[in-house]
Amino acid sequence: MEELLKKMHSWMDDYMKQFVTDDEEVMQGIRIKMVHTGYVTEIARELARHLKFREHDVQLAEVMGLFHDVGRFRQYSLYKTFNDAQSEDHADLGLKVLTEEMPYMAELSPEDETLVRFAIRNHNKKEIEPTDDWRKLVFARLLRDADKLDIYRVLSPYLVPEGAQKAPNFVPSDASQLVSPDFVRDFAEGKQADYHRLRTHGDRKLVRLMWVYDINYSWTLRKMVERGYIDLIIKYLPEQEGLEEGIRRLRKYVKEKCAAEDRVEL
Ligand SMILES: [Fe+2]
Repeated sequence: MEELLKKMHSWMDDYMKQFVTDDEEVMQGIRIKMVHTGYVTEIARELARHLKFREHDVQLAEVMGLFHDVGRFRQYSLYKTFNDAQSEDHADLGLKVLTEEMPYMAELSPEDETLVRFAIRNHNKKEIEPTDDWRKLVFARLLRDADKLDIYRVLSPYLVPEGAQKAPNFVPSDASQLVSPDFVRDFAEGKQADYHRLRTHGDRKLVRLMWVYDINYSWTLRKMVERGYIDLIIKYLPEQEGLEEGIRRLRKYVKEKCAAEDRVEL
């Protein structure tokens, strides 16, 4: 497995390099995905170790992190967008890339290959598809957590509104920063918001905050708290009636979940 991992890493490095271009605008997007791939690979390993996986399973987590966004590169070169709704699902596309271009998948055992594919396919879906296979579920949850933790890193500079850094008591004034009333209500009730109803920047911010409810392992949530991502989003939510209640509920949830221990038997 050690050797196989090395081959997979060097294949992925070469694969990503094919997308390097002189077009600085395109390069910005590509670079973000290259760096994201590196971090998610590392986080997946770290989380697997924290969950006390045996070495082979830590390595499988690493493979999942490494390839989870392989579809992003073909997606961007074909469609010039990272928006799945405007192009195609990048996880499904990634599985196609692995089938067509990655020569080492067949060196995994059939069970391991199925596991890797399941986790990648489900890393970006609204929910993990139903399965009665415990290992599939455990790994899919791990990859989703690793991905989200790093997406918060990628997003955090954008969460601070322009001008907020200079003015400490910044209050967003334009309506696009406000959260739609139905989202405020769902948030207060701790209900999952419906993505299709996203209208404003405020809605988008709130949905990102509500990912917190979708984090599977306490370890991941503790990292999010330590890195200040949750406070950062809350800090720049608009002052709006009804949001307080949702924030209180969320903070209570975070506190309880962070205090819990991750116990996963594989
Ligand atoms: Fe992804």
